Amino acid sequence: MKKTRALSLKMSRLGTESAFKVLAQAQALEAKGVDVIHLEIGEPDFDTPQHICNAATKAIANGYTHYCNSQGILALRVEITKEIERTRGISVKPDCVVVTPGAKPIMFYSILALLEEGDEAIYPDPGFPIYESMINFTGANPVPIPLREELDFRLDVDELKSKITSRTKLIIINSPHNPTGGALERDDICAIAELAQKHNITVLSDEIYDHIIYEGEPHSIASLPGMLARTILLSGFSKTYAMTGWRLGYAIMPPELVDPVVRLIVNSVSCTPAFIQYAGIEALTGPQDSVSRMVDEFKKRRNLMVEGLNAIPGISCLRPRGAFYVFPNVQRLGIDCSRLADYLLNKAGIATLSGTAFGKFGEGYLRLSYATSLENIEKALRKIGVAVAELEA
Ligand SMILES: Cc1ncc(COP(=O)(O)O)c(C=O)c1O
Repeated sequence: MKKTRALSLKMSRLGTESAFKVLAQAQALEAKGVDVIHLEIGEPDFDTPQHICNAATKAIANGYTHYCNSQGILALRVEITKEIERTRGISVKPDCVVVTPGAKPIMFYSILALLEEGDEAIYPDPGFPIYESMINFTGANPVPIPLREELDFRLDVDELKSKITSRTKLIIINSPHNPTGGALERDDICAIAELAQKHNITVLSDEIYDHIIYEGEPHSIASLPGMLARTILLSGFSKTYAMTGWRLGYAIMPPELVDPVVRLIVNSVSCTPAFIQYAGIEALTGPQDSVSRMVDEFKKRRNLMVEGLNAIPGISCLRPRGAFYVFPNVQRLGIDCSRLADYLLNKAGIATLSGTAFGKFGEGYLRLSYATSLENIEKALRKIGVAVAELEA
């Protein structure tokens, strides 16, 4: 008798990231000749700066094409400690730095290393979908903390307090935030830190958009007294240096987490390619003007996007402080947001993501990435305006 192939139960708990699904749908339309404007995918449209590309090819020519240290080559870990000192004012040792292929594996490995059945982990909703997916995968209980428009999409600290139980092991925060572009204030992170210390909870602080902030300062919870010992500070090169396809990320983590996470690396990818890490060294030590140019350009695009969306009847949009997303409220259009996202793609050729792709508290919103040209944004706004007017008619 033929055996049916049964997947493990935990696979049914593993979610996905719908940005990639919508990208595939949009590309299928393009293959049929439809003109699509991509506002769905979260990656800078700028090229990786040339000096970084040159460092990688030079490293290949110099023979850095073999296995290397699973934790990350020491020279890069040293440069990362300097970057953390510069940007967060904290002194960390290279021993506490772990380098991975992209920043996503930091979530994967640290959540896998920390959580098990019966544990609880609090995560932002709306939020990056991989948090909930990975918490579920481990068998732990995902506990969403809603981020509401009324609070500029910052979390309500009293509500956070009410979600903590004796089983809470992890709190995940993300600032500047995907998908809303919101950013936590210093008071917020102080209050979160106090709760984490009082209840002995680890914090995963996703700071991947740390350099993409337009107003005010980014605040890292790791820089507060006593917090370095209980924080996994996640960051990387994908967004800041337009290096999404290179796959290079890192974390600063408490010493006792380093060995388990490195073992997970050894069991999965062995190491991050050495020549990519040399490109990372160049990114951190070379000229930084491409970063400020990119952020200035993003700011112009943000302003155009926010003003344009607010001019469309039925849509209202806050002005986000960071990242390269807007999260407009579309509730007054009277259509659920995933149907609206489908409608905009099929009717107007505008690829967006529904707010619910980021959790149930995202209902009533869309996420639009403005990592595309001003010209494309203008065109997209016109097309959205027309499509929405037809919806209302
Ligand atoms: C909030 C957040 N964290 C982490 C990542 C992952 O970054 P990487 O591409 O370096 O894996 C992303 C990517 O979109 C993100 O939005």
